Amino acid sequence: MNAVPQERRVVTAIPGPKSQELQARRLGTVAAGVGSTLPVFTKRAGGGVIEDVDGNLLIDFGSGIAVTSVGASAEAVVRRASAQLQDFTHTCFMVTPYEGYVEVCEALAELTPGDHAKKSALFNSGAEAVENAVKIARSYTKRQAVVVFDHGYHGRTNLTMGMTAKNMPYKQGFGPFAPEVYRVPVAYGYRWPTGAENAGPEAAAQAIDTITKQIGADNVAAIVIEPVLGEGGFIEPAKGFLPAIVKFADDNGIVFVADEIQAGFCRTGQWFACEDEGIVPDLITTAKGIAGGLPLAAVTGRAEIMDSVHGGGLGGTYGGNPVACAGALGAIETMKELDLNGKAKRIEEVMKGRLAAMQEKFPLIGDIRGRGAMIAIELVKDPVSKEPAAEAAAALAKYCHNEGVLVLTCGTYGNVLRFLPPLVIGEELLNEGLDVLEAGLAAL
Ligand SMILES: Cc1ncc(COP(=O)(O)O)c(C=O)c1O
Repeated sequence: MNAVPQERRVVTAIPGPKSQELQARRLGTVAAGVGSTLPVFTKRAGGGVIEDVDGNLLIDFGSGIAVTSVGASAEAVVRRASAQLQDFTHTCFMVTPYEGYVEVCEALAELTPGDHAKKSALFNSGAEAVENAVKIARSYTKRQAVVVFDHGYHGRTNLTMGMTAKNMPYKQGFGPFAPEVYRVPVAYGYRWPTGAENAGPEAAAQAIDTITKQIGADNVAAIVIEPVLGEGGFIEPAKGFLPAIVKFADDNGIVFVADEIQAGFCRTGQWFACEDEGIVPDLITTAKGIAGGLPLAAVTGRAEIMDSVHGGGLGGTYGGNPVACAGALGAIETMKELDLNGKAKRIEEVMKGRLAAMQEKFPLIGDIRGRGAMIAIELVKDPVSKEPAAEAAAALAKYCHNEGVLVLTCGTYGNVLRFLPPLVIGEELLNEGLDVLEAGLAAL
């Protein structure tokens, strides 16, 4: 593993001169639609630190959007992927198969919730996994409708854009979107009109009412939800909501799909976030954290559903690439060996304790939520009106960036600061990042 020093060090303006030079080149050649949260160019990354080309060391509270849970250069990922690179880079599993793919599917069967017979198919990106989960659910049910939720995010392909709630920047100008996608309410406790304690049952009742009245339960192939909604603002559906939706799906022959692409693989302190309420999804989509930074995604689910698709109906040239599979086996090995679920729980304890103390001082923090190392603060102009404070979120993020702490924003209203540190981050570094956040709140 490369030895990136595990400390924060800001030696130039952020971005520094070398990054600015690269950014100028980038602007001349990279499409403007591809954005970057913080245009410091990366030299190395590992543990909880990103080193830029100017020699700055940034504390990483982003993990490349919840990907490098095991770190960006985890020993087992590097070792296994490097060995695989020596052997072969690609044959295409659909042409001549290889063991790594099978091993990843075995691991997914072992780790995902439920002790029923399971099968998996591997892909390249989260969006592709979601698309395939819908294909499989339609093939199994012989139905067409797909139900998704307010604040949901599922990707940037045509179908998954349509399944995503937020217009800007994901959908604006990119329509028309795929038909037969329907959106229903989710139990967003902090903003539920009758209070968080009522959000679970009331939102479930509304969602079910909309499905039955406007779509017809018999027409629904799949209900797709993130057990913790990521891009939408780290919204944990209020307790009782998910079990009610799962029961409705079961009662009506609908395939329940948990999109664990952001929340899965130890991120929330459990292998999968849906375990929190004992949910056993019919299908589960994974990506991001699965392979330590290499592009891999999967759909895993009940064998009879997965096998309902005709031979040759699923696949893709690169899906389950052997190097990415080797990376996944290395990442899973690391998660088990270092007990990254335990680490995520400890991160939650430290973060929530510190953030609660900050909330007492700064009423800008309207809500603290999330689980494990998937924690967010929702910023509001006033704790009673809860008017979203998007400008404050942007200013706070900028303050952190300038001080060498990489944080990301999210949320339908753009007013949520989210913290997704690598699960291997040291506790001192974690606290130092929070010190910077606290100073930023004071500076605002
Ligand atoms: C819950 C969820 N689903 C799907 C996706 C899409 O994944 P990808 O960007 O790999 O296509 C994301 C990405 O942020 C996500 O968070």
